[in-house]
Amino acid sequence: MAMNYKKYKPYIKIDFKERTWPEKITTKAPIWCSVDLRDGNQALPIPMGIDEKLLLFKMLIKIGFKNIEVGFPSASETEFNFLRKLVDEKLIPDDVSIQVLTQAREHLIAKTFEALKGVKNAIVHVYNSTSELQRRVVFNKNKEEIKKIATEGTLLVKKFAEGARKEGMNVVLEYSPESFTGTEVEYAVEVSNAVLDVWQPSKENLAIINLPSTVEMSTPNIYADQIEWFCNHIKYRDVIQISLHAHNDRGTGIAATELGLLAGADRVEGTLFGNGERTGNTDLLTVALNLYSQGIDPELDFYDVEEIKDIFQQVTRLPIHPRHPYVGDLVHTAFSGSHQDAINKGFKYRTDNNVDFWEVPYLPIDPSDVGCKYEAVIRINSQSGKGGVAFILEKEYGFKLPKNMHPEVAKIIQKDTDDKGIELKKEDILKLFEDNYINISGFLELIKYKVNEDSTNEDADSVVTLEGVIKIYGEEKNISGIGNGPVSAFLNAIEQFNLGKYTVTSYDEHAREEGDKSQAITYVQLENLNTKERYFGVGISPNITSAPIKAIISAINRSKKA
Ligand code: KIV
Ligand code: ZN
Repeated sequence: MAMNYKKYKPYIKIDFKERTWPEKITTKAPIWCSVDLRDGNQALPIPMGIDEKLLLFKMLIKIGFKNIEVGFPSASETEFNFLRKLVDEKLIPDDVSIQVLTQAREHLIAKTFEALKGVKNAIVHVYNSTSELQRRVVFNKNKEEIKKIATEGTLLVKKFAEGARKEGMNVVLEYSPESFTGTEVEYAVEVSNAVLDVWQPSKENLAIINLPSTVEMSTPNIYADQIEWFCNHIKYRDVIQISLHAHNDRGTGIAATELGLLAGADRVEGTLFGNGERTGNTDLLTVALNLYSQGIDPELDFYDVEEIKDIFQQVTRLPIHPRHPYVGDLVHTAFSGSHQDAINKGFKYRTDNNVDFWEVPYLPIDPSDVGCKYEAVIRINSQSGKGGVAFILEKEYGFKLPKNMHPEVAKIIQKDTDDKGIELKKEDILKLFEDNYINISGFLELIKYKVNEDSTNEDADSVVTLEGVIKIYGEEKNISGIGNGPVSAFLNAIEQFNLGKYTVTSYDEHAREEGDKSQAITYVQLENLNTKERYFGVGISPNITSAPIKAIISAINRSKKA
């Protein structure tokens, strides 16, 4: 059966050529309001209990929210009791405003103020649906009648607020023309202006007009046009806040919010990880970290994202998608070889050039800023390549492999992932590296040696004499050789045993600190002059002369195994 697209009609956009928002950029964080405990909670299969709400409330405070919608206290006992608990146990910081939602009906508004008793800063959020569809289908009321619900509700809030103020409460009115995106924008302004005329906002008597895309019905640019048009036509603009409250039905709630901010809004309502009705609310974490990634202080702190994720999952019983922007388990991870290589180079460039700004390919932000360990950045499976393996060996274990060794080591690791068809852990990668290259034993063994360095010849070049004992196939042999360093002295010393004639084609070394111990690591590549085959070997020792000799023995033993 074919899908019947003719069942749907296109959204009619407003005619607004004077728009200025496309030329703007955001330069500061908006006022954030978390609606996790209300809009987020009302969308959960199992709503949060009081203890769960409290856990999340404390987390929201820790993140830095100063406006928190804690519930709909006139609608449920739990919501009412939760607010009372916050007040009675003095859990609300002085700089945090507690927001509560209510319908514009007298007994609900009365109950809301009862729940708020003792709150220092309250935002009373009144809403009624103004959309053409709901006026026609749900309420069967005309525009005037719908406007009256809003103004009468505001009058009641004003009356209760006067009483509450006498008891020391600061009360801000928030009004939402619910289903704003289904409402003619002229009518939304008309209703909101009528509400504001009742409230009479001033610097001392603030009001918030919240413009929800209760259902996201169009592209974000159309929402932005509506917001800018609204801002241009609303009265009392300098003493009210325009607030955005986007849902995500089309998957563009975050984009709508960002464009809405360009269009002049001051405030954003939303939730952590975008929890909320249907496809959710705007994900505030993503909007905030989008600002952060542009060098703007988001005024919210998501450093401890693992704890935030744990608490969120515990209280909502919802999972977080592994691809969730900035915080999903896989979003800082590269499996693909070419990405890993570029990331590896990006990190190296940063260290070598001491750069101030974050510029690493494929990583829009520094994963450690959101508490992600670098271990998670590069993970190794059959798609991975040389850069990734080198990255792990260096970042996790301090091995700075020479570049010409990367492809060969990666091949060994890749073969293992291919054979097993799984992702390799960093410990597996280390083991494969150790087993294949480091201090490899075999037919050739070093029993003991001593070197004597003399730099008194006429060019002041050093002449190294090496004497020692080795075992070849278990048989002890005395050796003695001279060279310009321990490596050539050792190679000369073993030449007489016909093990093959080798020359050193690459040599690299560095120190590695492990606790309070320092170790020397040497990587050599030998070429067998007869076969032209090349073999790497790695030697590790606390002694800087032993490390290269062990590396050579590893390479020769590897050559016989090959
Ligand atoms: O989405 C919505 O319209 C709401 C209102 C109550 C603001 O949540
Ligand atoms: Zn909502």
